[in-house]
Amino acid sequence: MHSLGILGVGELTEKVVMGLRSSGFDGAILLSPRNAQRAEALAHTQGCQVLPSNQAVVDQAELVMLGVRPAALAQLASEVRLRPGQRLVSLAAGVGLAQLQAAFPAAHCVRVMLSYAAQHNQATVVVCPPDVPTEQGLGALGNLVVLQDEAAFELATVAACMNGWFYFLLHDLQQWLTDKGLPAAEARALVLGNLHDCVTSAQRQPEHTLKALGQAIATPGTFTADGLAVLMHQPVSASWGAACEVVLDGLLTRSR
Ligand SMILES: NC(=O)c1ccc[n+]([C@@H]2O[C@H](COP(=O)([O-])OP(=O)(O)OC[C@H]3O[C@@H](n4cnc5c(N)ncnc54)[C@H](OP(=O)(O)O)[C@@H]3O)[C@@H](O)[C@H]2O)c1
Repeated sequence: MHSLGILGVGELTEKVVMGLRSSGFDGAILLSPRNAQRAEALAHTQGCQVLPSNQAVVDQAELVMLGVRPAALAQLASEVRLRPGQRLVSLAAGVGLAQLQAAFPAAHCVRVMLSYAAQHNQATVVVCPPDVPTEQGLGALGNLVVLQDEAAFELATVAACMNGWFYFLLHDLQQWLTDKGLPAAEARALVLGNLHDCVTSAQRQPEHTLKALGQAIATPGTFTADGLAVLMHQPVSASWGAACEVVLDGLLTRSR
């Protein structure tokens, strides 16, 4: 990728730009003018150019990233015309390839899902369908997961929401420790440290299921097992499942 155009300079595309620059990408990054203050700040700190119109971004960019919210997509589509075969990488959650193709008929549309960890080059970067230029262009933002079909991509979007929900779970666990008297910084370090221990162990032992790894710790008679017995009798995981179902319903409704 020689140049990236961004249509919709917002929370997520800002992190994409930061991640690309920190990975060493030195090609042109061309920003749409709306949300001028944010675009100017990004241009200043990350060496980007703010162009006078969305069409100017499309005209000068090799790969175009769509960073507007789904509700703004129709308006944006009416403002631009892509070149035949030009890559349009959409971040819009729940907007299917058929909808994208109808809105941007000339473009080669690809869907991507990622999190704010893109700014630290540590995001899970989901690409659908497989597309080498997109994978090469955005792979530096983290770990690529390339999916063939959109049904799997909608599930990956639910998984991306889990990323946001985890913060609230972690907050509650930190809060319990601070309520018991631990300073906030230590409570945070303990919660994040133990989560990190768990993630590291799971990643290093892909041959074991996540449940088996937990069971190997929560053996009978351990304190872990005592607490687990309480967790299993309260509907916490049921709530998480219900949240997943609500999001998936919303995504499927929107993408049809
Ligand atoms: N945030 C996340 O964690 C996350 C995660 C995964 C996927 N996504 C997807 O990423 C997309 C962006 O999300 P976000 O949270 O970054 O949204 P956001 O902060 O609201 O950014 C969207 C930006 O697009 C601008 N915009 C709207 N219409 C435009 C137009 N016609 N031309 C140029 N710019 C226009 C908005 O300007 P105004 O503010 O002036 O309207 C705003 O600056 C969404 O489609 C969302 O589904 C977000």
